[in-house]
Amino acid sequence: MKIFLLVGAVLSTSFAATLAHANDEALMAEARKVATTLPPKLIVALQDEIKKSGPEGAIPICKDMAPKMAGEISQQTGWKIKRVSLKARNDARAIPDPWEKAALEDFDKRAAAGESPAKLEKGEKIGNEYRFVKALPVQALCLNCHGPADQLSPAIKAALGQHYPNDRATGYSEGQIRGVISVRKAL
Ligand code: HEC
Repeated sequence: MKIFLLVGAVLSTSFAATLAHANDEALMAEARKVATTLPPKLIVALQDEIKKSGPEGAIPICKDMAPKMAGEISQQTGWKIKRVSLKARNDARAIPDPWEKAALEDFDKRAAAGESPAKLEKGEKIGNEYRFVKALPVQALCLNCHGPADQLSPAIKAALGQHYPNDRATGYSEGQIRGVISVRKAL
């Protein structure tokens, strides 16, 4: 009898663990979907606007349209969405919290060791919340506004200086990690 109870207990524990695992995977897939909605739309909008009015004219895309779109996706999905960076441009909304900072530092190390930055992501259940971050790699387009100072146009330098006196988000090269998109949801 005891042995049956024991087997039953072991089976139900591993069953519960399997369920929990499946649940975590489903949450991660959902988080990934939310986190990957914004960046491609933003890139298209940036490309269009840079073509029309130069990089300095496209600043409002990153400054106003990105948070607005993030807000809309939040409303549709129930996930909170942020963009954070170890070298924030916007101090008011891009400073990482300790969990995000640890992920960013880990991603930088792994990218430097040769992992593809586009694949770097982390998902974790913490207390009653699920959190997920996905790296945003620097592409050629980004260098217009995040590249080395000597490659920025005078107009973009002036505009950035005016909007972001504490800007730390220049000096990047292609393939580095500019930051992460960070999403979270209460469970
Ligand atoms: C037209 C100029 C411009 C281009 C091109 C651009 N950005 Fe930005 N980026 C900005 C500005 C301005 C901000 C600050 C937005 C704000 O005020 O929240 C910003 C902020 C960010 C942030 C939020 C963290 C922070 O430092 O404030 C990330 C992440 C980011 N950009 C990534 C990228 C990536 C990746 C690309 C290329 C795919 C890119 N950006 C292209 C201007 C640009």
